[in-house]
Amino acid sequence: MTDKYAVFGNPIAQSKSPYIHTEFAKQTQQVMSYQAILAPVDQFSQSLMAFFAGGGKGANVTAPFKEQAFAACDELSELAKLAGAVNTLIYLPDGRIRGDNTDGIGLVTDVIQHFGDISGKHLLLIGAGGAARGCIKPLLQAGVKLTVCNRTFSKAQHLAELFTEFGDVIATPIDELTSSFDLVINSTSAGLAGELISLPESIISTHTQCYDMSYGAEVTLFNQWALSQGASEVVDGLGMLVGQAAQSFNIWRGVMPSTTAVHQVLRSQLS
Ligand code: ATR
Repeated sequence: MTDKYAVFGNPIAQSKSPYIHTEFAKQTQQVMSYQAILAPVDQFSQSLMAFFAGGGKGANVTAPFKEQAFAACDELSELAKLAGAVNTLIYLPDGRIRGDNTDGIGLVTDVIQHFGDISGKHLLLIGAGGAARGCIKPLLQAGVKLTVCNRTFSKAQHLAELFTEFGDVIATPIDELTSSFDLVINSTSAGLAGELISLPESIISTHTQCYDMSYGAEVTLFNQWALSQGASEVVDGLGMLVGQAAQSFNIWRGVMPSTTAVHQVLRSQLS
C-alpha cells in the first residue's frame, strides 16, 4: 500500500505542502501520497486520529494546530519540546505518535544558504511568538549572538531566559535598540495583517542583511521597510517553507531531498 502523508490546517486550501512533498517524492523515487486535510478548528485530534487509523504514516501541521499537535504527541523531539509546538508528526509502528519541529532548522538552512556562515554575527530576532520560539535554539547552535525584541517585551524576556543555556541570547526593549545588527529576522505576524512593525531606524545599516519569515508575490512590508533604511540584502521566507518540508521529508523517508528546483518553481508561481 502507498504510504500516506498529509498536512492539517485551517484554512488549508492555500498550502503548498502537497506540491512540495509530491515533487520531493518524485525526485527521490519514494512511493507515497501527500494530501491537504482541512480539520475543523475544534476537531483537530479527531481528524488526526482518523488519518492515522486509516493508514497515515506521518503528517505536517500548520496554523492553527501546532500547539494542539504538540499536546497530541506521546513523545517529542528536543526541538519540539523547546518550541512548544509541533509541525511534523510521525506515526510510530507501535501506534504512538512522535512530534518534531523542523521550522527552525528550515529557517537556519535557508538563512545560511542566502547569507553564508552566520556564526559570530549579531542577530536581531523580532517577535516572541511561536515562530520565534521554534527557531532560537537552531540559531544559537549556528553560533549567532542573539537579541530578541518584541512589541510585548515580557515575552521576549521570557524567551531569552528559556534559551540562555543554549548560547548568547538577550532580550532588549524595542525603544532601547540603538545600534545596527549584521542580521535582522522578522518572525512577527504583523505583515500578514498588513501592519508594519514600528522599529528604530538605527537597527539597519548598509551591511545589514534582513530575512522575513513571511513571503508573498511582492516584497514583504518588513523587507520594503528594511530596503528603505538601506539594508544590503533582503530575503523572504519562501525558502524556509521549502526547507522545513525537506527536513520533515527526511525524518519520514530517511532521504534528504534537494530544495532548489521546488523553490524556483514556487517563486515563479508567486510572481
Ligand atoms: P506566530 O506563531 O506566527 O509567531 P504568535 O505566536 O501569535 O504567532 O506571535 C505573533 C508575534 O507577532 C508576536 O511576537 C506579536 O507581538 P506581541 O507578542 O506583542 O503580540 C507579533 N506581532 C503581531 N502583530 C504585530 C504588530 N502589528 N506589531 C508588532 N508585533 C506584532
